[in-house]
Amino acid sequence: MLISELDTPALVVDLDVMERNLSQMAEYCRRHHLRLRPHTKTHKIPELAKKQIASGALGITVAKLGEAEVMLKAGLNDLLIAYPIVGPAKTKRLADLAIRAAVTVAVDSEEAARGISAAMAKRGSEVGVLIELDVGFGRCGVATENDALALAQKISSLPGLQFKGLMFFPGHFGVSPDERAVLRKQVNDFLDRCYEAFARAGLPFAIVSGGSTPSRYESEFFHGVNEVRPGTYIFNDRSTVGVSAATIEDCALSVLVTVVSTSVSGRAVIDGGSKTFSSDTYHAEHGRGFGLIKDDPATEIERLSEEHGHLNVTQSDRRYSVGERLMIIPNHVCTTVNMHDEIYGVRGEQVETVWQVAGRGKVR
Ligand SMILES: Cc1ncc(COP(=O)(O)O)c(C=O)c1O
Repeated sequence: MLISELDTPALVVDLDVMERNLSQMAEYCRRHHLRLRPHTKTHKIPELAKKQIASGALGITVAKLGEAEVMLKAGLNDLLIAYPIVGPAKTKRLADLAIRAAVTVAVDSEEAARGISAAMAKRGSEVGVLIELDVGFGRCGVATENDALALAQKISSLPGLQFKGLMFFPGHFGVSPDERAVLRKQVNDFLDRCYEAFARAGLPFAIVSGGSTPSRYESEFFHGVNEVRPGTYIFNDRSTVGVSAATIEDCALSVLVTVVSTSVSGRAVIDGGSKTFSSDTYHAEHGRGFGLIKDDPATEIERLSEEHGHLNVTQSDRRYSVGERLMIIPNHVCTTVNMHDEIYGVRGEQVETVWQVAGRGKVR
């Protein structure tokens, strides 16, 4: 089958670019003796998780239990759930998972740790635990080295929990390289304080898990980090390019769309809106536009209705006509993928493979 035969909207992955992204990241990790545990929330496709393992990852990261269940069913059995697991419905599922796979979870509260411990004790299973630190993103994570140590000591005393180390997500690193260097110093100061506090208390640990896509090739400069969890890097997207953490040529995934209307002056309308792209905004240029039209950057995707993308064509020399097809790099590839049942892998004009997005919508 050829790309020209695909119905639209469709997610199309350039396999050569994706494979290059995977091998460059794996090679970086090998060179710097970092364990690679990619976050699979970007693609939610077990076949791609297996490619990541084949290229050098030691295991994978997921956000939700539902994603973990999909991945385990496909045979991926070394899982970090980098998300707080809270409530009896979830801790029971976690205990079931931990019987069948090597599972580690991140926690930042005694409440969550106690709930998980109770479910593990009841089921007779054990789970590894990382303590999440808030290194400046301000989402989850304990704020101080003393809080981290107190929680680690508590975890070490609870049944079914094995304290394994620290974890952080530098989600605020989607900024320029110079700004990232300043932020990294703050992260390193916090990590150093943690290492001193744990050493003084005589509480050793093996894992320090960090990493993101914007910071992926700077991972070696984070003190003590020995595991990284980039996710977006497999495809990259317009926002990753916007913060100088990838180039357009590194973007593997495009949304193939068709122009369905040009009747309003100064406009062209494509057959993808917020239900195709998601409404996530661009992380640069004050958030302008809902994607990049690959061969016409001058035309802005100004607005999204649910099923219509509104193109402002007034700044471009190009004439748009009904029926023509465009390739668009989405602002945020992870949320875009989550809106689709399948992804097409292409080489040149040829559609080589189709993957089901098996973990899409698994928000529990
Ligand atoms: C906990 C955690 N780790 C890793 C990642 C991957 O980061 P990125 O999307 O920058 O690749 C994310 C992304 O949301 C995350 O939440």
